Amino acid sequence: MPADFPRLRDHLLDPSGGLVYHLRAWRHRHGRWAAFHAAVAVWLEKWRITEPELVIIGPNAGYALPDGFLGRFTSVVALEPDPIARHLLARRRDATALRFDRLDCLRTPDGLARLATRFPDAAFLFSNVLGQVAAPVEDWSVLLGRHLSERNWASYHDVASTVTAPGCRETLTVIETESLEATLARFWPGQAITVTDHATFRLGDSGPFAYVPWPIDGSRWQLVEWAVHQAQAQVLTRLPDASCPPATLR
Ligand SMILES: C[S@@+](CC[C@H](N)C(=O)[O-])C[C@H]1O[C@@H](n2cnc3c(N)ncnc32)[C@H](O)[C@@H]1O
Repeated sequence: MPADFPRLRDHLLDPSGGLVYHLRAWRHRHGRWAAFHAAVAVWLEKWRITEPELVIIGPNAGYALPDGFLGRFTSVVALEPDPIARHLLARRRDATALRFDRLDCLRTPDGLARLATRFPDAAFLFSNVLGQVAAPVEDWSVLLGRHLSERNWASYHDVASTVTAPGCRETLTVIETESLEATLARFWPGQAITVTDHATFRLGDSGPFAYVPWPIDGSRWQLVEWAVHQAQAQVLTRLPDASCPPATLR
């Protein structure tokens, strides 16, 4: 990798993580956030991949990752800019095969391409980060399609946020093709709401997608989406020798 690869810069006061996030997690993980974490645990349990190596982008301290999850892999690499989060993640009981890497794969247009090259045998888990960090160009769906279509990846991420509490707080899997508005209506039926669109709806466009509302604090709700992408296999085939039928002479 060239010396100028984009490096993660330590941060403690970032809006998508940092001290505020730890305070919220310690306060809410057994209460307000418990249903969201239970949904993530079910999604991860069903996500069965064969790669022995997993790269997690934005794990923080692993608050949302169920106990034992890291132990499913022979090797786990975390890309996490928050030093407190790294310290806490490394102390988890299942973090025996964990190491950290400094690649910032979200900052530059070629970041996901660098991710694929640096970890050629890994699967990737974007851990509630793609709805928090804006894509450097175009949008995350386009960049994932361009650079990671041949790899297994999954992501849970905010698709929209609002101050209005949802009427439905269940986890839903959506098989139908539908708009963001239609999906929001499943959770806020008949309600007039103002939302911030995080530009991550139907990430990767492969479906089915699952959703759960997450009360991030006392006044704001995020709708979190679960998206899984299966690697499109490229098979190198040696075709048998077969000569063309002889041309018919007239
Ligand atoms: C909303 S938090 C989610 C934390 C955790 N995965 C969870 O679900 O509770 C977003 C995380 O992404 C991290 N993050 C921010 N920018 C990042 C980047 N460029 N690369 C990797 N992680 C990043 C933050 O430090 C933070 O830990």
